[in-house]
Amino acid sequence: MVHVKSKKEIELIRESCQIVKDTLLFVESRIKAGMSTKEVDELVERYIRSCGAYPSCLGYEGFPASACVSVNETVVHGIPGDRILKDGDIVSVDLCAYKNGYHGDAARTFCIGNVKPEVKKLVEVTEECFFKAIENLRAGTPLYDIGYAVQTHAESHGYGVIRSYTGHGIGKEMHEDPSVPNWGRKGTGMRLRAGMVLCVEPMISMGDYRVRVLKDNWTSVTVDGSPAAHYENTLVVLQDGVEILTL
Ligand code: MF3
Ligand code: CO
Repeated sequence: MVHVKSKKEIELIRESCQIVKDTLLFVESRIKAGMSTKEVDELVERYIRSCGAYPSCLGYEGFPASACVSVNETVVHGIPGDRILKDGDIVSVDLCAYKNGYHGDAARTFCIGNVKPEVKKLVEVTEECFFKAIENLRAGTPLYDIGYAVQTHAESHGYGVIRSYTGHGIGKEMHEDPSVPNWGRKGTGMRLRAGMVLCVEPMISMGDYRVRVLKDNWTSVTVDGSPAAHYENTLVVLQDGVEILTL
């Protein structure tokens, strides 16, 4: 069931999203080569808790950390650990904050030091995919127009659109209906309504879109080992556009 949020609920989601945004800016200011992914997670957990919020990922279906930290060929759901960030890596940090009964959710892919131009391009285009997707988004837009825009832009660069994961609604739960795929046919799917709160999150690989999940049951990597990037914001659909809550 797709839930249209009240003004009051959107206020509360806005506060959680503000914390998510600030946490990502804090991570961006600290993340560097030589740091372990576990240290990134510690930054995230400390920051979110200092805002009086709970890091929603921690314990979600048994996920053991406060952030998903996904390096290079890891697409999403990287479990923070001993892996050390190296010059030239790209690292996606995906996190959620829960406060006053509502979640916010966003992800960024950070470049560590000198990243090869073609990999940097992947990171930039993944971000562009998000903005292409919201360009014409407003009440009445068919849901799959989002995926159509992401897929068209990513594939025009020869990239792969990850199919195994999607964006989603958000609110009292971290994942609510509808599912928001990054592929699809223009003009199809439900019509979006003002007050729907969605996470739009392109996950794009430089090569093949196929992924496999490691034995830890979380870490999702590209089958061909090509790097992948992730960019996500929580937004609210308005009559005449969207408001991005995590930017
Ligand atoms: N924040 C992720 C999303 O974009 C969900 C992470 S799964 C978790 O939907 F287990 F790590 F929480
Ligand atoms: Co999400």
